[in-house]
Amino acid sequence: IPVDPFDLVIFGGTGDLARRKILPGLYRRMASGQMPKEARIIGAARSELDRAGYQQMVKEAIEEFGDPRHKSDVAGVGDFLERLDYVAIDAKGEGGWPELKGLMRDGVVKAFYFSVGPSLFGDLAERLKSHGIAGDDARIVVEKPFGHDLGSARALNASLAAHFEEHQIYRIDHYLGKETVQNLMAVRFGNMLFEPLWNSQYVDHIQITVAETVGVGGRGSYYDKSGAMRDMVQNHLMQLLCLIAMEPPAKFDPDAVRDEKLKVIRALDEVDPHHIVRGQYDKGPDGPGYRDDVEDARSRTESYVAMKVGISNWRWAGTPFYLRTGKRLRARASEIAVVFKDTPHSIFGPEAGLHRNILTIRLQPNEGMELGVTIKEPGPGGMRLMDVPLDMSFADALGPDAEDVPDAYERLIMDVIRGNQTLFMRGDEVEAAWAWTDPIIQGWIDRHDVPKPYDAGSSGPDDALALMHRDGRKWRDIK
Ligand code: BG6
Repeated sequence: IPVDPFDLVIFGGTGDLARRKILPGLYRRMASGQMPKEARIIGAARSELDRAGYQQMVKEAIEEFGDPRHKSDVAGVGDFLERLDYVAIDAKGEGGWPELKGLMRDGVVKAFYFSVGPSLFGDLAERLKSHGIAGDDARIVVEKPFGHDLGSARALNASLAAHFEEHQIYRIDHYLGKETVQNLMAVRFGNMLFEPLWNSQYVDHIQITVAETVGVGGRGSYYDKSGAMRDMVQNHLMQLLCLIAMEPPAKFDPDAVRDEKLKVIRALDEVDPHHIVRGQYDKGPDGPGYRDDVEDARSRTESYVAMKVGISNWRWAGTPFYLRTGKRLRARASEIAVVFKDTPHSIFGPEAGLHRNILTIRLQPNEGMELGVTIKEPGPGGMRLMDVPLDMSFADALGPDAEDVPDAYERLIMDVIRGNQTLFMRGDEVEAAWAWTDPIIQGWIDRHDVPKPYDAGSSGPDDALALMHRDGRKWRDIK
């Protein structure tokens, strides 16, 4: 279903994110028939480009990062390029703003994507208002990192709030745009089967893993100031935790969902420093170590975090959540595993062994779900038990429908145009997440904590294994 006609201005329109994700994503939405003929996209950046120069840059970006299915569809690309405009703009000065105003149309949805560093958010917001470009119905889209601690996040929220209402602000966490992440809500609240068991009475613990094989690559200067805690845990892993742990919202609407997520963040226990492990990857056979990647031979920034987290509320008290994420690990694998408790009594006696149901939701790759079920070991022997998976891959279950699933950015940008904030973070949510992570990071600074080295291509530092072993539990293999 096509969205309403829109003018989308991308500040940072020549930048990396625009070229890799935003513009190819918009192109795919057009190719899928979701973008109306009257949609227009205006790149705005510092470079002195003209419209033709911008069109050429975007064409190359689509060729490089677009969906291979549409690469040869040159006519389609031409159609997309026709919708583009460009204005050279000075975010901190007055240059280019009247020209931008001249390009904007009346009677269409107006959205402004701040694909720039957070230090420019306030300047852009102010000029959009002072030049009369963005009114009360404009939508502002902002990228992470949304601050680097509570103080800076508050300042950013305030600089946006000085010019726009909360209902106009769309803070992106691209994990919320992933199809499988939204499926967490569908699975929990669309089935009778799981929700009655979804609490500390039946769940022993939950593991959330986001493992990457890539290192910090060319992003060393950003990443080294950030680390895994700020780059991944404060946003993506916290969002996953919220969706898994939250109470059922009364309806699937933006504030109902975000209210419930916020309650989870506010119920998180302070983390005991012994329940958290930081790691940093070492040189491996196929690549440099972290300290070579960031060119600081003494860097103490973590590229890996594993932690045990408690939620003090009626549903979850006593059920730990184990979170881990890291770069240069053995495999790219993101999943959530809900490990249920043992049956209260084994009628088959001790020799049947202990068996637990585990529900695994694979977020990426090989998206799907698996439920481990205990059955009888076949054969004439006694009653011995074994675990077998009920396994569902979305690709198999959905067939060709799974192929046209929009990627996270495509989905989220279309939600902006539709005016649906459900999959975007509210200001208070982001602040609460920082309020929880700040003391953890401060603790590391105060203790001069040095991250534990781990071999690139491994499953992380040994101390992370010990974190689980101490509790008589085990991480699931990263494979
Ligand atoms: C980004 C982080 O937000 O998410 C990156 O800044 C990380 O460091 C990326 O690699 C992971 O996203 P995805 O979609 O590849 O899981």
